[in-house]
Amino acid sequence: MNFRKHVLLPVLAATSLALAAPSAMAQNFRMALGDAAGGTQWELGTKFAELLEAKTDGKAKVALFPNSQLGDETDTVNNAAMGLLDFSVLAINNVTPFSPTVGLLTLPYVIQSADDAKTLTQGDIGKELTENTIRDAGVRIVGWAYSGFRVLTNSKRKVETLDDLKGLVIRVPRNEIMIASYQAWGINPTPMAWSETFTALQQRVVDGQDNPYITVHAMKFDEVQKYITNIRYIFSLEPLIISEQVFQNQPAAIQQAILDAGREATDHSFAYLQATEDSIRAELTAKGMEISDPADGEREWIEKATTAVWPKFYASIGGKEKLDAAMKALGR
Ligand code: MLT
Repeated sequence: MNFRKHVLLPVLAATSLALAAPSAMAQNFRMALGDAAGGTQWELGTKFAELLEAKTDGKAKVALFPNSQLGDETDTVNNAAMGLLDFSVLAINNVTPFSPTVGLLTLPYVIQSADDAKTLTQGDIGKELTENTIRDAGVRIVGWAYSGFRVLTNSKRKVETLDDLKGLVIRVPRNEIMIASYQAWGINPTPMAWSETFTALQQRVVDGQDNPYITVHAMKFDEVQKYITNIRYIFSLEPLIISEQVFQNQPAAIQQAILDAGREATDHSFAYLQATEDSIRAELTAKGMEISDPADGEREWIEKATTAVWPKFYASIGGKEKLDAAMKALGR
């Protein structure tokens, strides 16, 4: 099936608005989503839009543009920083190049559960990372989508050991921590924009990639991938960001409504993940995907990635003490 046509048609009507003009003064906001409609980005975005409209008595409305229509996820950070785009929901790993301290959240195997993800994003550490992101990237995190662990998919063979991984061409985001993780596992991954990933998998330019079950499902990767390995190296967090310029241009009441709607949409996202991940996994199996676990409880994957990757990124996350503080917050 033609994926692009299939996914884009329902939303093409709105594309003429895309990046047309800054809308800082308007109350008709535009929100970019990197994923197709139907995943956790969409769920967070639609809930946020509904809440914001209700909280402002219809004065603030948000139109969603899924499937990277407003640019690749990394472009949306730049566009929002310049005030050309209002909101974006994107994977945290695509924010890291602009705001390196959020790399703390993608250091392999730091987050070991959905509750860990909640603790780090909603506590003092999350507040500090939000402040840093305003300072470094010109965007403010006002909500979080919780998308589950990024699992490895590929079209060639069942992967359980690091030996099985050898020879596979794996796409990763342009994220140094993720590149280093695969290097620690013995292969050189292929960095590539998210918006190009489906086509690259379809055309067999790359063999595989990693993303959560919900994203694999929303992006219809089951049409181009056969095998899933339940690695748990990164729990996918997808912040809802607003241009800081746009935020500062809003009246206080709208700013407060944005912050409140973001908090409530975040709670909704957490509940949505708990309610849907199992059935989505079952659906992918029913569609013919084969799921396996990494050998030996993932021991070798964990050991290699944590030993080689963590020390390389102490400086960029703000010092080893930031990792120590995260571990303390997680009770480890
Ligand atoms: C990526 O792999 O670039 C992102 O995690 C994709 C996404 O935002 O779902």
